[in-house]
Amino acid sequence: MDLLDKLNWRYAAKAMTGEKVSEEKIARILEAARLAPTSSGLQPFEIIVVKNQAIKEAIRPIAWNQSMITDCSHLLVFAAWDTYTEERINKMFDLTNEIRGFKNEGWEAYRQKLLSFYPQQDAEENFNHAAKQAYIAFSAAIIAAAYEEVDSTPIEGFEPEAVDKILGLREKGLRSTVLLPIGYRDTEKDWLVNLVKVRKSTEDLVTVIE
Ligand SMILES: Cc1cc2nc3c(=O)[nH]c(=O)nc-3n(C[C@H](O)[C@H](O)[C@H](O)COP(=O)(O)O)c2cc1C
Repeated sequence: MDLLDKLNWRYAAKAMTGEKVSEEKIARILEAARLAPTSSGLQPFEIIVVKNQAIKEAIRPIAWNQSMITDCSHLLVFAAWDTYTEERINKMFDLTNEIRGFKNEGWEAYRQKLLSFYPQQDAEENFNHAAKQAYIAFSAAIIAAAYEEVDSTPIEGFEPEAVDKILGLREKGLRSTVLLPIGYRDTEKDWLVNLVKVRKSTEDLVTVIE
C-alpha cells in the first residue's frame, strides 16, 4: 500500500481489540509527532503515553465512556503548555544554540521578539496557540499510525479538566488537549469498519488560483 492507500484504510476506529501494539511501532509514531513542525519551533506540548490499565479505566467515564480508551494498547494524551513563559522560550532557543553549536544574531533577535510578546500575552490565548501546535503533532501521529498499519481514534470527546486531574498535568503547567488511543480495530464490534469513507469533493475543498 502506498501512503494514500493507507490513509484510505485509516478510519476513526470505534472499537478496539485490546491487542498490544509493539513498542517499536509506538516509538515510530511518537517520533513522527516529535518531528512535526511547530510555530517558532517551540514544541509547546508534551505527550503522555498511558499504558496503565487502571488509569485508562479512570479516564473512560470522563471520555464519554468511549470503549477505545480502555481497549486500546497505548493511550496518547497530547498536553499543551498552559502558557508561554520566558523560561520555556529560553529553553528552546538555548537548545537550538546547543545543538547547532553556534549563536546567531538574527536568531537571538528573534528570541527577544518572542520574549517581548508571548509572556505578556493572556495565558488562555497562549494556551490556545500552544494547543494548535499540539494538534499538528497529533495529526502527524495519526498519519504515522496508519503508515504502520495500526489503528487510532482521534478523541476530543472528553473532559480536559478531569483528565488533567488524573494525570496531574496542571501541576506541570500542562493542559490536556486531545487524546489518541492506538491499537487494533475490532472488526466484529465496530459499526463503522465497513462503511464507506465520506469526504467532500476535491473541487469543494480546493481552489486553484492560476
Ligand atoms: C479533533 C478530532 C476529534 C475527534 N473526536 C472524536 C471522538 O471523541 N470520538 C470519536 O469516536 N471520533 C472522534 N473523531 C473522529 C471523527 O469523527 C472522524 O475522524 C471523522 O468523522 C472522519 O472519519 P474517519 O476518520 O473515520 O475517516 C474526532 C476527530 C478529530 C480530528
